[in-house]
Amino acid sequence: MTNVAIIGASRGIGLELARQYAADGCRVYATMRTPDRPGALGALKGDVRLHHLDVTSDTHVARLADALSKVAIDILIHNAGVNPGHGKADPDTTAEVLRINAEAPIVTVSALLDSVAASDQKKVAVMSSVQGSGRPRAGSPDLYGDSKGELNKRFRDIEPQWRDRGVVAIALHPGYVQTDMTGAYAAITPAESVTGIRRVMAGLSAADAGYFLDYRGKEVAW
Ligand SMILES: NC(=O)c1ccc[n+]([C@@H]2O[C@H](COP(=O)([O-])OP(=O)(O)OC[C@H]3O[C@@H](n4cnc5c(N)ncnc54)[C@H](OP(=O)(O)O)[C@@H]3O)[C@@H](O)[C@H]2O)c1
Repeated sequence: MTNVAIIGASRGIGLELARQYAADGCRVYATMRTPDRPGALGALKGDVRLHHLDVTSDTHVARLADALSKVAIDILIHNAGVNPGHGKADPDTTAEVLRINAEAPIVTVSALLDSVAASDQKKVAVMSSVQGSGRPRAGSPDLYGDSKGELNKRFRDIEPQWRDRGVVAIALHPGYVQTDMTGAYAAITPAESVTGIRRVMAGLSAADAGYFLDYRGKEVAW
């Protein structure tokens, strides 16, 4: 049995990750902010176990780590993210986007690392974006790109510690995907993105640790 944990699985790419991994026979631990209204995630077929998680809550993260402490997580994908759009953001929005996009993936993966290290596969992906390449930039009005650049920086700082535990962790660009974040005119469907992501995750070896890859397995510039 392969255990897969998807952080942020209510809709978009995260929902499709949960759907495809469950359809493939994996046991899926899927998190969402509204488990009282599970919607499409609750309707998935297969072994899908819902957990309540707002990634900005230290209490939620600690509770999830406790709930999964006896579970060996083969594949952990931190997918949750927000895009506030372009333009100058106020300080509260800036702090929230950095918390969700740059800080939470590192905090949440670190909290679950013992469960990953106890598994056979020991694979982690944090969902970044090509928009983080070459960022953050001084004076930039692109909070989303800057937040993903900040995630990349933090990932590169901490990843060697995860590698020391035998974990293969990558930063991942899912492609330009048709979701609520982008709209219907994006280049590929969630199904195409996730089919690629699953192939990339299946093919990861120790030599891939610390790389920034896209959903086709191509390296992305930091
Ligand atoms: N779509 C693209 O083309 C694209 C390209 C590059 C990178 N990405 C990245 O891929 C990831 C998924 O994007 P998407 O397109 O699927 O976006 P989406 O449809 O907007 O879905 C975002 C997901 O993140 C969750 N989320 C947001 N804030 C959260 C929080 N504080 N705690 C827990 N969950 C939270 C949402 O949950 P709720 O339903 O509760 O809001 C939702 O499940 C993001 O990290 C995004 O930056 C997407």
